[in-house]
Amino acid sequence: MAIAEKVVIVDFGGQYTQLIARRVRELKVYCEILPYTASAEKLKAAEPGGLIFSGGSASVYDGDAPQCNPGFYDLGVPVLGICYGMQLMARDLGGEVVQARNQEYGKTTLRVKKSNKLLSGVDKQFTAWMSHGDYVTRAPEGFEVLAESDNTPVAAMADDKRHFYGLQFHPEVIHTPQGKAILGNFLFGVCNFSGNWTMENFIETTIAEIRREVGDNNKVVCGLSGGIDSSVAATLVHQALGDRLTCIFVDHGLLRKGEREQVLETFEGRFHMNIVAVDARDEFLERLKGVTDPEEKRKVIGNHFIRVFEQEAEKVGQIDYLVQGTLYPDVIESGTATASVIKSHHNVGGLPDDMKFSLIEPLKYLFKDEVRKVAAELGLPEEIVWRHPFPGPGLAVRVLGEVTPEKLDLLKEADAIVIEELKNAGLYREIWQAFAVLPGIMSVGVKGDRRVYGHTVALRAVTSQDGMTAEWYPFPYEVLERISNRLVNDIPEVNRFVYDLTTKPPGTIEWE
Ligand code: XMP
Repeated sequence: MAIAEKVVIVDFGGQYTQLIARRVRELKVYCEILPYTASAEKLKAAEPGGLIFSGGSASVYDGDAPQCNPGFYDLGVPVLGICYGMQLMARDLGGEVVQARNQEYGKTTLRVKKSNKLLSGVDKQFTAWMSHGDYVTRAPEGFEVLAESDNTPVAAMADDKRHFYGLQFHPEVIHTPQGKAILGNFLFGVCNFSGNWTMENFIETTIAEIRREVGDNNKVVCGLSGGIDSSVAATLVHQALGDRLTCIFVDHGLLRKGEREQVLETFEGRFHMNIVAVDARDEFLERLKGVTDPEEKRKVIGNHFIRVFEQEAEKVGQIDYLVQGTLYPDVIESGTATASVIKSHHNVGGLPDDMKFSLIEPLKYLFKDEVRKVAAELGLPEEIVWRHPFPGPGLAVRVLGEVTPEKLDLLKEADAIVIEELKNAGLYREIWQAFAVLPGIMSVGVKGDRRVYGHTVALRAVTSQDGMTAEWYPFPYEVLERISNRLVNDIPEVNRFVYDLTTKPPGTIEWE
């Protein structure tokens, strides 16, 4: 992607690397993360206007410590080293790094010894977040020491001639209150960026890039689920290629109430996309008959999904590209940017390796909240922009035991009530994911004068950053009360309601 103002963050395995990326983008400068193992040619090809060396957990003197490719210093662009990144820079350029007697962790007071562009506007004494064992005792020749702390003689250093800078502390964390201003000084004062990276800008460059990549004749297919990622990916490709994009929407009968209608109304009705909607509800339900094991259910759904998708794609004719809604966190694995992999668990079913398409992944440099901003900018409806994540196997992973049409109907109604009440209470956006579950517990209750044998509905509602860990949401009692009343009153088969108070781990978010 040709972006005029770009920072490359070289990742030395630091736990905050993604956070640096977030902060840089918040300052409206586009950035990418490359692993420290990337070649100097690759780095140069990314055309950065500035480099940031991340932190890292190693000591520069460890035998297997990540080292900096000497070619990175020769690109002729400004470099900011953070923590381990600064120690590497100091050592590589002729300074001195030693193991600290008093390691510094946590909030530390720094004193500015000499202000320059990097610390412009920063208080003479400021609080910064430190987390280091080694430290720089002597800055390399050509560098000035800008700040110190009681235990760190070189807490910030600068070589204004070569545009090399180092910070021993972490400007990217909120515990360094003036950290964002310091990063801003590097981006705007040193790299001379203007900060013009916006979502509008992203949309324009991405559309141009898709056109360039796909060419004038090739055809593209996209599995559209109605979730935010596939919706935004499809809309971008559609704006780039129009009718050369075909979206395949498979209704496996395991969708939420009204979902199919809404997806078709939006993308076919409003956006005039070429959509093949496949009604495969009966086929899926037939295959799920008698299946109770959760993994088996996933397999049945995943395998059949692939078959249906392939059949429909074949009907479209010669297809050259497949659109995937892969996001940046899927691309970055354990802190290092690796080659992008086709999502298996988290796409609908997981498409097979032998499909003869090239991939288009227009969102692969975005974080979830940026995708939402793009969605809003593209004019997608609120319900899609803010919709909670929904698993590929759909309601099948929320019905315990065998999936039957009756249970699905009941769950759809229950889920619609839960979501409606959350929206009414203004809580929907605060929650990562909330939904009704049918645990398959039947019990005796009383409705009117009669004893009735009815279903239990469970509520799962969690907050989370990425779905990897989660905490249950502390609902106000009145909201739980309203949900409970409506479930048992509006759905005749339901006579009990429970709320799941389990974090992940050990619980998963879904119930299967
Ligand atoms: P669990 O239940 O494992 O889920 O805690 C973590 C997150 O992943 C979603 N999920 C899926 N998403 N296909 C998807 O696209 C799937 O097969 C799938 N299974 C779980 C789940 O909803 C939660 O957000």
